[in-house]
Amino acid sequence: MPRTAPEVHADLVLEPRDVTFDWSGLPLHWIPDEPLATHTINVLHLLLPEGERWFIKVFKDALPLITDEQLREEVLGFIGQESIHAEAHQEVLDHLLAQGLDPRPYVRQIAWLFQRVLGEKPKLGPRQRRENIIERVAFVAAIEHFTAFLGNWALNSPGLDRAEADPTMLDLLRWHGAEEVEHRSVAFDLMTHLDPGYLRRVRGMAVSGPLLVHLWVRGVRFLLAADPTLDGRLVPTWREALDISRRGLLPEPMASLRSGLRYLRRGYHPTQEGSSAQALSYLASSPAARAAAR
Ligand SMILES: [Fe+2]
Ligand SMILES: [Fe+2]
Repeated sequence: MPRTAPEVHADLVLEPRDVTFDWSGLPLHWIPDEPLATHTINVLHLLLPEGERWFIKVFKDALPLITDEQLREEVLGFIGQESIHAEAHQEVLDHLLAQGLDPRPYVRQIAWLFQRVLGEKPKLGPRQRRENIIERVAFVAAIEHFTAFLGNWALNSPGLDRAEADPTMLDLLRWHGAEEVEHRSVAFDLMTHLDPGYLRRVRGMAVSGPLLVHLWVRGVRFLLAADPTLDGRLVPTWREALDISRRGLLPEPMASLRSGLRYLRRGYHPTQEGSSAQALSYLASSPAARAAAR
């Protein structure tokens, strides 16, 4: 199997960190006085539990196709980390519900999308089933490019500290972001192991990129409308989102777009994005990860 950055893979051992967070003191607008920034980031909690459970299903389906022992170990480590991520974000959803913001109508749509539309197709022959698994792995690889981008942003977002965002939520975002940076190459390496073709990569991004933008915009609108303290008065605009991103509370839209385009470069490999050393350094100091290690 071709390895673009063998030095990174030689000792990539992915350890699931069994973290817990106490949400009892989390304010509804956990970035004070910034409901739009708060809810734009909150879309993560809407998408990730179902999305990451879907990643796990896809990767479990792909396990019998893997012929590289090191990659198999990385995939198993990835599955372990993503299952804890899904649980952690699910607990935030439960907290939102307890605060009077009911996320369930949107989450039901996400569940339908991942389980029905992007789920395993019934009654496929062995060749079609293999093809379907590889296609879904390519979707995961493209989405994992963005989770690593967002994770890298979360690790380098002093604007959130300046805005006095809730420290427990910041730790969730940065612990998760650090693990996304740590395991950023696994889905891509699995895809190229199963199909090294460039077209597979392009198709994965052509579907996943626009889908993510669509789900994010819908998610922000949904959360603002469902927020009981806003009475539907806050209607988001791109101009406002740009202003918030310039203040460092959200990734800049153009930076996100450029990142998506980098994925299409011929010589791209996820290890060119973000820093494993920075991710591991955060994980060594994260309150939740340190408590899990004790
Ligand atoms: Fe994750
Ligand atoms: Fe991930």
